[in-house]
Amino acid sequence: MKTLIVTGGAGFIGSNFLHLLHASRPDWKVVNLDALTYAGNLENLISLEGWKNYEFVRGDIARREDVERAFAAARRFGGPVSVVHFAAESHVDRSIESGLPFVQTNVLGTQVLLDAARAHGVERFVHVSTDEVYGSLGDTGYFTEETPLAPNSPYSASKAASDLLVRAAVHTHGFPALVTRCSNNYGPFQFPEKLVPLMIAKASDGESLPVYGDGKNVRDWLYVVDHCEAILAVLERGRLGETYNIGGHNEYQNIAIVRRLLSELGKPESLIRYVKDRPGHDRRYAIDASKIERELGWKPRYRLEDALPLTIAWYRSRAGWLQRVRSGAYREYLARQYGG
Ligand code: NAD
Ligand code: DAU
Repeated sequence: MKTLIVTGGAGFIGSNFLHLLHASRPDWKVVNLDALTYAGNLENLISLEGWKNYEFVRGDIARREDVERAFAAARRFGGPVSVVHFAAESHVDRSIESGLPFVQTNVLGTQVLLDAARAHGVERFVHVSTDEVYGSLGDTGYFTEETPLAPNSPYSASKAASDLLVRAAVHTHGFPALVTRCSNNYGPFQFPEKLVPLMIAKASDGESLPVYGDGKNVRDWLYVVDHCEAILAVLERGRLGETYNIGGHNEYQNIAIVRRLLSELGKPESLIRYVKDRPGHDRRYAIDASKIERELGWKPRYRLEDALPLTIAWYRSRAGWLQRVRSGAYREYLARQYGG
């Protein structure tokens, strides 16, 4: 049994992780610290209502007093505390518009959290990072945990900076941290600014689908449930101080994903619009996940052929969720509940 602080639990992967804990570790005590930015949505967590071992704390990881409120809640639950750190500004295109919020949350926020976690003597600290810190691959090869960091966007640079701050805490203070680096996720509750839900939403409304550049950039797609199970394995059994790559050997060009979505949705390919490329667009990501498989016995359970239809079915059955997120109406609830 564990007491856990999860940061960013109202976002896409964080909310899926909380659902996994609720289903598989219901005796754990869980505090969710989330600032509820545009990407945080408490509607993602409605199914947790009534879970007596769960508490939500609204707060910013970059404010020590907010982080202390989360630790106070964890202390009330009792037992040694661990942290799983998801909270971040996560969208590359937004970071190209403005890098500062990414430095504020991903870099400063991670350091504030690390300082507090060290002061409270946490048992384990899992830092959730991304394959984008390794930069871009050519036509062949894979990112391993030894691949040098070479981030190319303000988002990935801020994540790489946070990874290095975690590394420094381990090296300097013997801090009990682990780092995970995962490839592109898709699945329920993903904010419709990312490729898969954006294309589902637009195609469903008969809008054109904006494909950047030649559409031949490659991503290594992983169903979010697989990612969450990998993080749980790292939390429970990972070796302190280690980094674990997480990925699914599911490489596809963007245009292949878009075509597959259109075909599943029964929509015409004439909706595809090639648009101006993303500045500095990384060409290819591909993960070598042999370390986590070898050491922790984790392997992805879902294939894209099965999980993409599951994802489409989820968005179809949650048309109201999608509509409220796209229109911003979910924020009215936040305003009523939290005054802004
Ligand atoms: P998301 O944008 O959907 O959710 C981020 C969450 O963090 C939101 O709930 C938001 O309110 C919260 N948050 C943002 N700033 C905060 C702050 N200052 N204080 C407290 N909470 C704050 O992101 P996601 O896609 O779920 O990604 C979660 C983590 O996983 C991130 O660290 C991201 O870098 C990493 N990651 C994501 C992917 C992916 O494909 N989405 C892949 C690999 C790694
Ligand atoms: O690799 C892990 C990363 O995956 C995570 O760290 C990030 O948080 C997450 O956002 C994601 O980053 P990407 O930039 O790869 O994801 P995105 O969904 O924004 O884009 C996927 C690919 O699709 C990318 O090559 C850009 C392209 N794209 C994206 C959008 C939004 C388009 O062609 N058109 C679009 O409208």
